[in-house]
Amino acid sequence: MHLCCVLKLARVGESSRDRKMGFCSLSTLATADRHGEDSPYFAGWKAYDLNPYHPLFNPTGIIQMGLAENQVGTDLLEEWLDKHTDILAWKGTLTSFKETALYQDYHGLAKFRKALAGFMVEVRGGRVKIDPDRIVLTAGATAGNEILTFCIADPGEALLVPTPYYPGFDRDLRWRTGVDIIPVKCNSHNNFEITLAALEEAYQEGLNNKKSIKAVLITNPSNPLGLTISPQTLSMILDFATKKSIHVMADEVYAGTVFSSQPFTSILEIAQSSKKYNPNTVHVVYSLSKDLGLPGFRIGAIYSSNPTIITASRRMSSFSLISSQTQVLLKCLLSDRTFITTYLTTIRERLKRRHGEFVKGLRDIGVDCLEGNSGLFSWVSLRKLLTADNWEGEMKLWRVILEEIGLNVSPGCSFHCGEPGWFRVCYGNMSIDDMNVALGRIRTFMSRGRTDNVVLLGNSNVLVAPEASAAVGARLARVLDAEQQTESFA
Ligand SMILES: Cc1ncc(COP(=O)(O)O)c(C=O)c1O
Repeated sequence: MHLCCVLKLARVGESSRDRKMGFCSLSTLATADRHGEDSPYFAGWKAYDLNPYHPLFNPTGIIQMGLAENQVGTDLLEEWLDKHTDILAWKGTLTSFKETALYQDYHGLAKFRKALAGFMVEVRGGRVKIDPDRIVLTAGATAGNEILTFCIADPGEALLVPTPYYPGFDRDLRWRTGVDIIPVKCNSHNNFEITLAALEEAYQEGLNNKKSIKAVLITNPSNPLGLTISPQTLSMILDFATKKSIHVMADEVYAGTVFSSQPFTSILEIAQSSKKYNPNTVHVVYSLSKDLGLPGFRIGAIYSSNPTIITASRRMSSFSLISSQTQVLLKCLLSDRTFITTYLTTIRERLKRRHGEFVKGLRDIGVDCLEGNSGLFSWVSLRKLLTADNWEGEMKLWRVILEEIGLNVSPGCSFHCGEPGWFRVCYGNMSIDDMNVALGRIRTFMSRGRTDNVVLLGNSNVLVAPEASAAVGARLARVLDAEQQTESFA
C-alpha cells in the first residue's frame, strides 16, 4: 500500500478514536510551528536518512553535505583515547566511579570548568581572560543560546540577528522563549558584512513594530558564511549596542576552525580591552561540538560576567546538564596541553586544505563561492543556475541538487538569506574521497546539462518534476557556454 494511504488510514483511525474518547487538547507550544524544523534544512537530512551514500554499499545514494560536523580530527581523538584507556576504566582520572555516579551540583565539576576555560583561552589565541567561575555548563550551544535568551528577553521582546543565520536559531532563540528575531539584512555586495546601516534599519523596524529590542546576536565565525567578523566590525557592534543599551550575544562555536593567517578575534577580546564597554552586557555561547568535533557529547557553555545572568542560567541549566562521566573524560583530554595544541594546529591545516580543494574544484567548473576563512562549509553562489531569480527558483534548484545530483546541501532561504541562489555546502563531515565524488557528480551533471539535459542518477522520486531538472540543465548549458566564450576572449 502507498505510504500516503497508510498515513491517511492511521489519521482516520485516530480521529474516530478521539471522537469516542473526547478530545484532549495540547499546549500551544507543542502544536505551534515556531520551532522552524519544517524548513528544507531539516527536510534534506530526512531525505539523506532514507538513502545515505556509501562508496561500496550505496554509491548512488545521497551525499550528506548539509551537516556542519567536524570529522577532520576524529582520528586524533581516537588515537588519544587509545593511549588513555585507563580513563575509560576509571583509573587515572582522580575520580572514583561512585563519585561520578552520584548527583553532582549543577555548577559542573570545577576541574572540568577550569580545563574548559583553558581551552577557550587557547582557541582565542591567549588574548582573552576566562574565569572558570563565570562559565555555566549547558548541554551544547543549543541549550546555551536558549538559556541566555531566556535570561535576556521576555516573550514578545526581540533580538537582532544578522542574516544569513544558522536555521537552528529559529528553534533555539524563539520557540520556547516566545522571543522574536528581527533579521539584520546583510547582502552579497560586501560579502554579507554586518554594517551600522543594516543594524540601524533592523532596530528601527523593531521600533516601528513596537518591539522592545534586548540584544544583538552575532555568530563569529559565521555559519553559514564560513567567515570571521573583523575586529573593526566587532567594535562597531559593541558601540551600537552600548548606544542602544542592549546586550551583545556572541555564538562562537566555530572559534577553533579559523584557518586563515589572520587570527580569530573574539568579542571578549575587544570588550575586555576597553573600558568603553560594560562587561555585564557581553555574553558568549560556546561548545565543543564544532571545534573538538564532539556534538554527541553535548558540551556547551555560556560565558558571562553578569552575576544575575550567571546565577539564573545556572539554575536553568538543571534542565540540560552534561553527564559527570563526560566531564571527567573531557577534563583529562582538555588538560593535555600538548595534545590540544597539536589537535588545533592539525584540524586548521586540514580544514584549510579541504576548503582550498573544494573551492578550486567548484571554480574549475564555473561555480563561485564566498572567500571563506573558517568553519566546516562554504557559502556557494548558484544564482546563475536559477531558472527563476526568486525563492521558487531556489527551491527548484535545491530539489534538483538533492534528487538528481544526489547531494544534500542547504538552500539560502533556510538561513533567511535575502538573495535567492546561495547554498551552504559542508565538507568537514566527510573524507576527501567522498568530497571528490561530490565534486565529480556536480561536474558530470554540468557537462550532461550542456550536452543533453538528461537526469544524472535517475534517483527521481516524489519531489522533483522532470521539467525542473531539464530546465536547470538547459540553464547550466547556457551558463557554461557563456563562460567558455568569456574564457576564450580572456
Ligand atoms: C552557529 C551554531 N550555533 C549553535 C549550534 C548548535 O551547537 P551544539 O551542537 O553545541 O548544540 C550550531 C550547530 O550547527 C551552530 O552552527
